[in-house]
Amino acid sequence: MDKSCFHEIIRSSGSIFKNSEVLKLSHLPVSSILQLRDKQIAKMAECCQSIQNGIAAENMFLNGGVATGKTSTMKLFFQMIEKEFYNVKCIHVNCYRYDTEYKIYAKIYQILLGRENINGLQLSYMKDKILEYLVENRIVLIVGLDDYEFIHSRKLLNDIFYGFLRSDEFSKAEISIISASSDRKSPTLRDNVNTTYQPTNVYFPPYTQPQIYNILKQRCDEGFYQGVIGDDLIEKIADYTYDRGDLRYGIKLLMKIGNKAERDNSTEILEEYL
Ligand SMILES: Nc1ncnc2c1ncn2[C@@H]1O[C@H](COP(=O)(O)OP(=O)(O)O)[C@@H](O)[C@H]1O
Ligand SMILES: [Mg+2]
Repeated sequence: MDKSCFHEIIRSSGSIFKNSEVLKLSHLPVSSILQLRDKQIAKMAECCQSIQNGIAAENMFLNGGVATGKTSTMKLFFQMIEKEFYNVKCIHVNCYRYDTEYKIYAKIYQILLGRENINGLQLSYMKDKILEYLVENRIVLIVGLDDYEFIHSRKLLNDIFYGFLRSDEFSKAEISIISASSDRKSPTLRDNVNTTYQPTNVYFPPYTQPQIYNILKQRCDEGFYQGVIGDDLIEKIADYTYDRGDLRYGIKLLMKIGNKAERDNSTEILEEYL
């Protein structure tokens, strides 16, 4: 038996999924984001021209409805910019999970300084070490505060923004913030923080029905074996998804009907699985 034959057998899980990873919500669909969010990426890149001179990027606020690709675009943009510049570090923070100042700084501390163990470290100690690290290594930092509205306390939000944006008053660190939210308004901050924040607004419009169809079709092509799902059915799911105004719904539905077909030992996804 040759190796590829063995691989085919041991990896075989049925006749439906070629690669179920791409049908997960967490999948980062690089080419499709580059294509559909090119304007947003261009605008974000314009805000980052100063990095080549070692100066913090402009702050940004990414906004638009649910599942318009804000998080995916931010993550992809971070990868692109870290590849472009050796002197930048971008850290994506999901504020639902990291909802306190301590948790946010701990994450940044761990990533920047490469330390696993933070047991017992004081917040002020981590803040100082982060700033020290940035200045000594001439690193420009971009903090991506994603879904920042999960930080409910206004005081806390102010403290977090203040900590990053006004650090240049007591250190030479170069830090900026990209916040993202489905709210139309940028974060409400106190005046003394707002004046230094003043973000460039990057809007993510809702996807059109044809765009949704293409996104779902591409995920089907990569996720399912050829012939598993027909274009008519994808079109139908694209219609549902468009009506709901939430791309996540369509992606989840693809996974669900794929699983149904697999359990049924079917080789294709039938309309009745919907
Ligand atoms: N342009 C796109 N192409 C392919 N998939 C996309 C695109 N935009 C969003 N998605 C998918 O939709 C889901 C939600 O995207 P996400 O970036 O988390 O949206 P948001 O942060 O705006 O709510 C993810 O599974 C993502 O892969
Ligand atoms: Mg998001």
